[in-house]
Amino acid sequence: MKPIGHTEKFFKEIKDELKKGSTQKTHPFRYFTLGTVGLDRFVRQRTVVLRDFSEDLKCSFYTDFRSKKIIHIKENNRVALLFYNSEKLLQIKIEGLATIIKGSAKEEKHGQNIPEQSRKEYTTALAPGTPLKDAAPIEYLNEENHFCVVEVTPYKIEYLKLQQPEHIRVRFSNRDDLWSGEFLVP
Ligand SMILES: Cc1cc2nc3c(=O)[nH]c(=O)nc-3n(C[C@H](O)[C@H](O)[C@H](O)COP(=O)(O)O)c2cc1C
Repeated sequence: MKPIGHTEKFFKEIKDELKKGSTQKTHPFRYFTLGTVGLDRFVRQRTVVLRDFSEDLKCSFYTDFRSKKIIHIKENNRVALLFYNSEKLLQIKIEGLATIIKGSAKEEKHGQNIPEQSRKEYTTALAPGTPLKDAAPIEYLNEENHFCVVEVTPYKIEYLKLQQPEHIRVRFSNRDDLWSGEFLVP
């Protein structure tokens, strides 16, 4: 899993920054834009929280099993993740395959980490995105919880840093569990 040559330090930087994003609440990589392909084949994007970044580079977030993004992922699990740090002018683009984790020990382990108030968000009587007549009140159910975890396994990662005298752009690709890196014209 090691990119060779001069690209290696950028690979390490990606890993370090994403790890920080998953563990530090104020880190710019705490939030990322998740792109999915809608059933009508239009791109759909939204912000989600990076909850975990594993040794093998899997990025996890939490969501409601009834949400549109889950409907999209069930149909097409190719997703895009976009991270941006405005202080470092650093952008990380990830393409990967999403796996929905529900009804397993892994989901339960993650579920135990979330505070009561956040847990409630996954118990709305109506599915997320259902039109409402008014802003409030929203009805919650106690017996049903639609919490699930989505784990994204990257197969392509692109690093771009804007800096002087020259910007740096590096593309990492995974083939047969081996990462390789190459510099690109920024
Ligand atoms: C700061 C911020 C963080 C968010 N984090 C999440 C999240 O971790 N999981 C999630 O499902 N939605 C999160 N949302 C809401 C999504 O952006 C989105 O509106 C919602 O999930 C519905 O998306 P969908 O209809 O495309 O499935 C967040 C929104 C904001 C503004």
